[in-house]
Amino acid sequence: MTLTIGVDVGGTKVAGGVVDDTGTVLVQTRRDTPADDVAKTRDVIIDLVGELAAGRTIEAVGIGAAGWIDAHRSTVLFAPNLAWRDEPLREYVGAAVGLPVIVENDANVAAWAEFRYGAARDADDSMVMFTIGTGVGGGIVLGGELLRGAHGVAAELGHMLAVPDGHQCGCGRLGCIEQYASGSALVRFARAGARQEPHRATALLELAGGETEAITGHMVSAAAQGGDPVSTEAFAQIGRWLGTSLADMAQILDPQTLVVGGGVIDAGDLLLGPARRSYLDALAQRGRLPVAEVLPAELGNSAGVIGAADLARRI
Ligand code: BGC
Ligand code: NA
Ligand code: ZN
Repeated sequence: MTLTIGVDVGGTKVAGGVVDDTGTVLVQTRRDTPADDVAKTRDVIIDLVGELAAGRTIEAVGIGAAGWIDAHRSTVLFAPNLAWRDEPLREYVGAAVGLPVIVENDANVAAWAEFRYGAARDADDSMVMFTIGTGVGGGIVLGGELLRGAHGVAAELGHMLAVPDGHQCGCGRLGCIEQYASGSALVRFARAGARQEPHRATALLELAGGETEAITGHMVSAAAQGGDPVSTEAFAQIGRWLGTSLADMAQILDPQTLVVGGGVIDAGDLLLGPARRSYLDALAQRGRLPVAEVLPAELGNSAGVIGAADLARRI
């Protein structure tokens, strides 16, 4: 049995695990992501890999990172929601831990994990995944292979245009779907709703101590679970936007399966219900033609670790 290490670097947490060749996580550990400090983030990754590798024979390390990665799976070129700019992560980590390392986009690794071991394991050929968190990520599997594109940066689904001249996106453009279907958008919609109709957001505002600006994603989730109207509507808004992008991907690629994952998916049908309805509405003109089902991701926050480790196995 060969072992690899998968690392998932997110905006708040760095998660790592030792994974075997059946996709099972044998040991898992996590650290806080040092905010806006790329050198410290690098050290946290190195330290975490060192801890996981100690006393074990490890073949390779895969790192999932939230940004554009170069074609050599080596350098983080740009990360809209993190401080990385041309960060040669593979070189740093590889030199420090003395193991082969690959760097891959965070949503790509999650999609790969869901394709191999999760919600799309019955799809033998194709799937498209959206990850809904701080940003909106995408991963595409075609012909049983992860689509990386000519320059390594394919499947940046969060930066498809949703609204011309719309909300400013971290990537520099206006109106990307990330600004309407992400966890950040959820909070923005909920704050706006609470400001405009406080009487329909009493549960949410109570959680936020009466301060609209103090509303967080977790508060919107908790309030929505309890039926708070503004919070429920905020989920429906991001869900409807997500549905339009799911439909676009179905029209472009006609994949076997569509998967939705990321932290915000914990809200379940609050998000998926409106997403499925808007997806099917957008495809109504297709009449009775078959279309891919929209499934929730199954691997939760282990998807990144599992997918990165599995890709490292294939270096
Ligand atoms: C980034 C992607 C990333 C996604 C999810 C987006 O803003 O452009 O590279 O996969 O967020 O983290
Ligand atoms: Na991607
Ligand atoms: Zn963008």
